[in-house]
Amino acid sequence: MDRHKKIAPSILAADFSCLSEEIRAVEAAGADLIHVDVMDGRFVPNLSLGPRIVEAIRRMTRLPLYLHLMIERPDSFIEPFVQAGADSIIVHVEATPHLHRTLQQIKQTGVRTGVALNPATPLSAVEEILDEIDLLLVMSVNPGFSGQRFIPTVIKKIRTARRRLDAKARPPLLEVDGGLRIENVKPLSAAGVDLFVSGSAIFRSGDYKKAIAAMREAIETGERV
Ligand code: DX5
Ligand code: ZN
Repeated sequence: MDRHKKIAPSILAADFSCLSEEIRAVEAAGADLIHVDVMDGRFVPNLSLGPRIVEAIRRMTRLPLYLHLMIERPDSFIEPFVQAGADSIIVHVEATPHLHRTLQQIKQTGVRTGVALNPATPLSAVEEILDEIDLLLVMSVNPGFSGQRFIPTVIKKIRTARRRLDAKARPPLLEVDGGLRIENVKPLSAAGVDLFVSGSAIFRSGDYKKAIAAMREAIETGERV
């Protein structure tokens, strides 16, 4: 089913001792794509995984893999992650000094381009590259860990982002990541989010199908607001 608004479970909150079962379970439960958090212990105070694990994940699912790179100077890792099977590479505006060049590099590999903004980074930081990206990711927690509290001021930022993106001939998708719960998904959907990333609300729920369905319902209710 090709839905306009999509749910992307973040495997950071999954049980890594049985990652393939976890990924198959969220796929069966109705996930639209898989969000893979890559951390370097420098850009964010945590480490996660590299291309070899992404390559293994690629073999576990048919869902698109969207890689959220929370790493400094990501340029040298773009090619290995694309080879590993990424469908989209999202880099942080704060992590690369030559964002335009980094985006050209991603484009040349043929995968979708994305840029992420930390909560403290203004939208103006991406103004000049909006025509170069397929996706804008607005972080609603400071990246590094799953299970953090949602920062409510992000809703206003999302609304503004929606307007700026809609002014484009080919508007990039708008994604939100961090602290999503049923209560904030509805206003986020109303504010114009297309892609909802969720870690703990899905993987710590005990019933993935129920959690995804409830989130989907909140998204659809928000759409009607
Ligand atoms: C945070 C990551 C998120 C995180 C989301 O650095 O980018 O993708 O896993 O997890 P929750 O939904 O638990 O905040
Ligand atoms: Zn993420």
